[in-house]
Amino acid sequence: MEHYFTNSDNLKSEIKEFKVKISNIEFTFKTDNGVFSKGELDYGTYLLLSNVLKLDIKGRVLDLGCGYGAIGIIISKLKNVKMLMVDVNKRALHLTKMNAKENGVIVDIRESDGVSRIDDKFDYIVTNPPIRVGKTKLYELINDALLHLNKDGELFLVIRKEQGAKSFIKDFSKYKIDILDRNKGFYILRLKT
Ligand SMILES: C[S@@+](CC[C@H](N)C(=O)[O-])C[C@H]1O[C@@H](n2cnc3c(N)ncnc32)[C@H](O)[C@@H]1O
Repeated sequence: MEHYFTNSDNLKSEIKEFKVKISNIEFTFKTDNGVFSKGELDYGTYLLLSNVLKLDIKGRVLDLGCGYGAIGIIISKLKNVKMLMVDVNKRALHLTKMNAKENGVIVDIRESDGVSRIDDKFDYIVTNPPIRVGKTKLYELINDALLHLNKDGELFLVIRKEQGAKSFIKDFSKYKIDILDRNKGFYILRLKT
């Protein structure tokens, strides 16, 4: 079975474009088969963005597991930040490049397994993480990402109750962890080291 995080050249491309209005700005996104949330902004991503956009974020930001690019592109358009977007899925990275151009933002886009190819540090990391990779890999991705936060940096993530939100909170309790929002079973969490 193909998952959205695999690189499948065999998977037929069927680009589907959609538009979404955030903070009164209309964004246009191209999505495709084999990439998370084809044809629409995922509700978890939307809720994560709504919470992050309320904050006065600036500086260097990492969109970890960027998919077709919604999080990094929307934050870049609405905030004064320097954005790096990474994913392992080549098709997602290609869509992110097209979507950044379409929405008029300049972002850095790189192929990287988590932060493995990243030396930089960030003021904020924002992620709708890949749950389907399994708990061990998910925890590795988040733990490694936390090492790339500047002092006073913050990592924001969305996770659903049925995907283990409560055990995630328990397992990461050595960090400062807050529940910023909870809606329709989605938890928006903030972690600080
Ligand atoms: C739940 S999706 C979120 C996509 C996008 N940020 C959004 O909100 O629509 C998780 C993303 O993580 C990516 N991913 C999976 N494993 C990864 C890894 N090891 N390193 C970086 N990204 C990964 C997937 O390809 C996928 O695009």
